[in-house]
Amino acid sequence: MKSAVIASFLCLLLSTAFTSPSNAGDTLTPRRPISDDGSTLTSDGGRFQLGFFSPVAGSLDRYIGIWYNISARTVVWVANRGRPITGRSGHLSMSENGSLLLTDGRSSTIYWSSSSPALAEPEARLLESGNFVVMENGSDPSSSAAWQSFDHPTDTLLPGMKLGWNLSTGLNRNLTSWATSSDPSPGDYVAGIDVAGVPQLVAFSY
Ligand SMILES: *[C@@H]1O[C@H](CO)[C@@H](O)[C@H](O)[C@H]1NC(C)=O
Ligand SMILES: *[C@@H]1O[C@H](CO)[C@@H](O)[C@H](O)[C@H]1NC(C)=O
Ligand SMILES: *[C@@H]1O[C@H](CO)[C@@H](O)[C@H](O)[C@H]1NC(C)=O
Ligand SMILES: *[C@@H]1O[C@H](CO)[C@@H](O)[C@H](O)[C@H]1NC(C)=O
Ligand SMILES: *[C@@H]1O[C@H](CO)[C@@H](O)[C@H](O)[C@H]1NC(C)=O
Repeated sequence: MKSAVIASFLCLLLSTAFTSPSNAGDTLTPRRPISDDGSTLTSDGGRFQLGFFSPVAGSLDRYIGIWYNISARTVVWVANRGRPITGRSGHLSMSENGSLLLTDGRSSTIYWSSSSPALAEPEARLLESGNFVVMENGSDPSSSAAWQSFDHPTDTLLPGMKLGWNLSTGLNRNLTSWATSSDPSPGDYVAGIDVAGVPQLVAFSY
């Protein structure tokens, strides 16, 4: 019987150990996509980065993720968990209405996308909390998120993220382990809120 809970609860308290922010910018817009050429977004204070990565050095499998901007890369979120792009033709862009699209430049196959209510001047910003938020240009991300990565956790709980049902969006947010350390597709272990009876944090395997 599987006993250990593998879903990793990573609540690192990182202080201001990091140096100055980079020029890479923290914002994706319809006119500023990201290609798999080493481009990244870096949060304003430098704590998190978003971009393409391979879980195993040298692998052709490419994912869009968010990681702590430290030398031992710690991935905290993955967009296309079970659908890697093979090779470096990936492209993360934003449509004119604010939905995010992960495509393969060769075939225009959509590997992952985010839903979004139609926005007029959308932007997506990587916040210093590690949350990637789609909103109207210039609005307050804490109150105006049209879509946010914190609503779609992978295996890592960051400070400020909530699990369980959001009754207004109907999302039941949980943490699901990676299949293996080299494969971010959903694995056997899930942690979330069991709302049958008194709400409680539960972790289980399939
Ligand atoms: C964070 O990212 C920026 C931009 O890539 C880089 O200059 C900086 O050295 C990084 N910080 C750490 C601690 O890795
Ligand atoms: C936004 O644009 C995308 C890509 O063009 C499209 O698939 C999607 O249906 C649009 N969403 C809305 C709410 O208009
Ligand atoms: C966002 O709004 C600012 C002013 O509030 C403007 O300078 C900028 O060009 C806008 N960016 C986009 C992508 O619309
Ligand atoms: C539920 O989602 C809505 C819309 O994104 C958000 O405004 C609200 O704060 C969320 N509530 C909880 C408890 O997360
Ligand atoms: C956990 O969340 C994922 C993504 O929303 C969903 O596909 C999966 O069914 C959920 N698992 C459980 C056990 O609730």
